[in-house]
Amino acid sequence: MTPESVLDYLKSHQQRFVDDLCDYARIPSVSAQSAHTSDLKRCADWIAHRAREAGLDPEIFPTDRNPIIIARTPRNDPRKPTFVVYGHYDVQPPEPFELWKSPPFEPRLEGRNVFARGISDNKGQHLAHLNAVEAWLKTGSELPCNLTFLIEGEEEVGSGSLQRFLPDHRKELACDAVVVSDNGIPTLKHPALTYGLRGVAAIEVRVEGPGRDLHSGVFGGTVDNPALVLCQILAALRDSRGRIAVPGYYDDVAPLSAYERRQMAKLPFDAEKYRRFLGVRALNGERGFTPEEQRTARPTLEINGLTSGYQGEGSKTIIPSWASAKLTLRLVPNQKPAKAIAAVVRQIRKLCPPTVRLTIRRGHGGEPYLVAPEGALAQAALRALKAGFGHEALLAREGGSIPIVSDFKRHLKVDTLLLGMALPDDNPHSPNEKFSLDAYERGMRMSAHLWPELSSACRR
Ligand code: BES
Ligand code: ZN
Repeated sequence: MTPESVLDYLKSHQQRFVDDLCDYARIPSVSAQSAHTSDLKRCADWIAHRAREAGLDPEIFPTDRNPIIIARTPRNDPRKPTFVVYGHYDVQPPEPFELWKSPPFEPRLEGRNVFARGISDNKGQHLAHLNAVEAWLKTGSELPCNLTFLIEGEEEVGSGSLQRFLPDHRKELACDAVVVSDNGIPTLKHPALTYGLRGVAAIEVRVEGPGRDLHSGVFGGTVDNPALVLCQILAALRDSRGRIAVPGYYDDVAPLSAYERRQMAKLPFDAEKYRRFLGVRALNGERGFTPEEQRTARPTLEINGLTSGYQGEGSKTIIPSWASAKLTLRLVPNQKPAKAIAAVVRQIRKLCPPTVRLTIRRGHGGEPYLVAPEGALAQAALRALKAGFGHEALLAREGGSIPIVSDFKRHLKVDTLLLGMALPDDNPHSPNEKFSLDAYERGMRMSAHLWPELSSACRR
């Protein structure tokens, strides 16, 4: 049971928790951009300091890139279960700046939302856990478990340092389960335990033609245009029924069970509202699947960036010398990133004419994740969600990826429970990212209830 004093502490400290959240969001910890290296370090120091103030013992581990923080509850008790709370302090690039209603690193309160880059992905969500643990520690309430916060600064660029760190720190990170809140829930009235994530694999494709940009009138018609060739290759990777046209791509895709389809159907979904929110004329995905299934349980191939030729003012009649594209695949159980990438690379090579030079660079990858939702820990998590949000919790799969989760399974041999607090309109990775203060508050309450629930599930 969570003592009343813990819940009272959370209530009476809300304003400071909001101020802290704004301070945290003010640090531009953009991991993709090297100009922000010192901001990442500052951000790591900030969260370590905050953990110490909350009553934990933090340690900062430098890496080749951004520091990793481990912060533990004091007086480790080997008779109690241990849980790791994972989060990331790095954020996505804020560009394009002109689409933000207020500067991305100057948090702005509007109604019950705070707008800032990284505020829901993922600063607000792990800060909510830290606040809840502070409430336990500062009220002198005895936590029924040991807790280890693990906060990294490279999630948005593939978690490279943490992937290398984990195998060497298995002992310090030994636990009964990992708790992650780097995901979302359908609505405040529909909290959900996420039991599945998609995997991801990135590649960059570059097509080179003439040794320099050419006059398209003088030379056009005699040589292949790299931009056109690249577009033709990319366009051939999807068929008219929304399937990825790569031989073997679907070989390992696990079908949704009837049970899962029933769970998914319980999630609130309004296709028209969803269409309007995304600003598209019509939805379009793989035939035979609902949008929720397409988004979470089916693999995709996306172009994330496409670059070639002249895009400045006016026109410039050239045949560009090169064209390139950044692509990512989203993968579902039981696809393997290496195998899926190999199939796509093979197909791109097959589609590419011999008139151009083709180079393909492989980027980061992460496996899809799925945990059995019937287990005792998952059931305990559902109860904590209900207690925190005041509504029955559902089961959901998510379309996004958190690659480190499968490394937790591999190295720590434990499952990860994904209890999100973000809402579908929080705009992660988009301009005007926000976090709902109602979600923040309920998320803290959920976390306060989580530790006794999970601990009792371990004792069973
Ligand atoms: N928080 C997201 C992942 C997420 C979002 C999971 C919504 C579930 C629901 C995370 O920060 C993220 O963006 N991950 C990247 C991983 C990639 C850079 C390897 C992603 O999914 O694109
Ligand atoms: Zn993200």
